[in-house]
Amino acid sequence: MEKENPSIEPGTPILGKDYSIIIDTKGPYFVYGHPRLQQEFIVPNADGEAWEYHPGETYNTEAEPVALCRCGHSRTKPYCDGAHTQADWDPRLTADRTPLLDSAETYDSQYLELSDNPDYCVHARFCMAKGTVWEQINNSDQKESYDLCVRETFHCPSGRLKIKNKKEDRFLEPSLKPSLSLIEDPQEECSGPLWVKGGIPIEDCECNAYEIRNRVTLCRCGASTNKPYCDGTHATIHFKDGLKPLKKHKE
Ligand code: FES
Repeated sequence: MEKENPSIEPGTPILGKDYSIIIDTKGPYFVYGHPRLQQEFIVPNADGEAWEYHPGETYNTEAEPVALCRCGHSRTKPYCDGAHTQADWDPRLTADRTPLLDSAETYDSQYLELSDNPDYCVHARFCMAKGTVWEQINNSDQKESYDLCVRETFHCPSGRLKIKNKKEDRFLEPSLKPSLSLIEDPQEECSGPLWVKGGIPIEDCECNAYEIRNRVTLCRCGASTNKPYCDGTHATIHFKDGLKPLKKHKE
């Protein structure tokens, strides 16, 4: 079957054919190209607001492909152990394939324009720190607020939030190497999605491509109603992957 040409979100690096993720219809994510796979913990600032990521354990991706659990039931997470065949879950890929920005709301200000598509929210909460990004953007003429808006949108793992420099008419995106992260959220006592970074192409088993984006979050708890994307349900069900907790840093 001939492959559809995927749309590419503005600001996404073009990778060629080195990496890809193919989603099994009723099973795992098959990852090609050996991207780095690492835990990333959402860590709060002194005010208890989600503020930065701390790296955790790295996992082997030497297999080609490596099969990663997406049903949430594997006993060998982050890898698939075949549990999806017996588990009670709905594997259907129901997400709308229209480009994320097509159905985003925009918030305008003097120097920045914020695009927001809440369907992609994964409850990472970086946008809530130091006054919300929606409030800060009204002060984008002040450097502190401008920088905060850029920082908070760059930390949004799903790309729900995107920011445009109006003067240059250009979307700003963090520089992300093609890699995968397992989001961990100790503050909310849950594990989050598989964070796909750097424009890795994703398609289903019938070669239908999803929009290629710099920041994508795929469900790995099995409970999202917007698969393959995470819709934040992991926080409601307190999904836990049982992987290593964040190491305590010495004072
Ligand atoms: S990992 Fe977020 S909804 Fe499944």
